[in-house]
Amino acid sequence: MAAAQARDAAENGPARPVLEIRHAMKRFATPEGQEVVALDDVSISVAPNEFLTLLGPSGCGKTTLLRVVSGFEDLDAGDIFIDRQDIAGRPAYRRPVNTVFQTYALFPHLSVARNVAYSLEIAKVEQAETRRRVSEMLELVGLAGFGERRINQLSGGQQQRVALARALVARPKILLLDEPLSALDKSLRGKMQQELKALQHELGISFVFVTHDQEEALTMSDRVAVLGQGKLQQIGPPHELYRTPSNVFVARFVGESNLFAATVSEVGPAHCHFRLADGQEVRLPRRDGQTFSAGDKVQLLARPEDARPSPPDNGTGLRFSGPVREVFFVGTHYKLVIGTSEADEPLKASLPAGEDLGAGPAPGQMIELWFPASRLHPLAGEVGS
Ligand SMILES: Nc1ncnc2c1ncn2[C@@H]1O[C@H](COP(=O)(O)OP(=O)(O)OP(=O)(O)O)[C@@H](O)[C@H]1O
Ligand SMILES: [Mg+2]
Repeated sequence: MAAAQARDAAENGPARPVLEIRHAMKRFATPEGQEVVALDDVSISVAPNEFLTLLGPSGCGKTTLLRVVSGFEDLDAGDIFIDRQDIAGRPAYRRPVNTVFQTYALFPHLSVARNVAYSLEIAKVEQAETRRRVSEMLELVGLAGFGERRINQLSGGQQQRVALARALVARPKILLLDEPLSALDKSLRGKMQQELKALQHELGISFVFVTHDQEEALTMSDRVAVLGQGKLQQIGPPHELYRTPSNVFVARFVGESNLFAATVSEVGPAHCHFRLADGQEVRLPRRDGQTFSAGDKVQLLARPEDARPSPPDNGTGLRFSGPVREVFFVGTHYKLVIGTSEADEPLKASLPAGEDLGAGPAPGQMIELWFPASRLHPLAGEVGS
């Protein structure tokens, strides 16, 4: 039952969302006299306790989406519900939402404790209660005993945790985090990722987390919403976005990809046939909602790790050969870049660095690779669409 509910929530959005954004539209007039559509008919629901990540390139509307939820910006059209209540017109300080900004926006002249206490002081929470909640929060984020320090006496990671404590102390239903880890170095970032996940688990509140780092999005989230040019491109659990992206934009933005241009050569009741420019043909099962017609131009997606050094007997799939252009040894794998005429771009392959590869392929060496049909995923449209 729980598994079925989780699957349903992943596919259709949660049944009882804590946050619901419906058909959000937001345009900005730029100083240059143009108009930017920052949000273009975006609908997203967030479940209680969910870790949802907004992922997309710079300027795609991520911060704008957080700002309309937190009340720092109004929508041009559309609705936002929190716990089924329409929050249009409700000022930012009366929304059960808090934000951790990318720059932390801490008060440098105040102590750690005063920074964390700030929203409680504004809300005129009694002093003893404020003290109790501030020390509870500092304990939670691992900063017990740091209350009297000033912000400029803290490391970047510690400042990050003060920003978190400050946002959490008012017990929001929803925490919005705008690229909170981007200023941290790689190892601290990994540690904070784990701490954030643990904290979310412990507090049981919903997180809407913004990043343009796809690896961070895949590892941390229950679901990921990919935004591109103000539009919601796809929303779903990380593995779904990675294995079955709904378009070329998502395929390229989430993970590394090989895209092979092909034409639909035959459409059967259960299968579609695809032909590449070099004459290779492959038959793939039709998926629900797939609406290809014979003659359509498509892209076949294969991930680098889907590459095999050679096909097994009777294996169906696509075969390529070409010179190795670059080799990167990454411990467990060799990452190869291979020049072939068939692919629009050099082919990317990741082969396990087992005994059979020995010291690994050498640049300039000719190599043959095979992608099994079961790992190919057809996408409508041409590259760049
Ligand atoms: N106040 C504003 N006036 C005019 N244009 C704006 C304003 N705020 C945002 N924009 C534009 O709206 C678009 C979306 O901006 P937004 O800040 O939401 O992007 P983002 O996805 O957060 O990008 P980044 O990853 O760089 O932070 C951009 O084209 C931006 O230039
Ligand atoms: Mg932003």
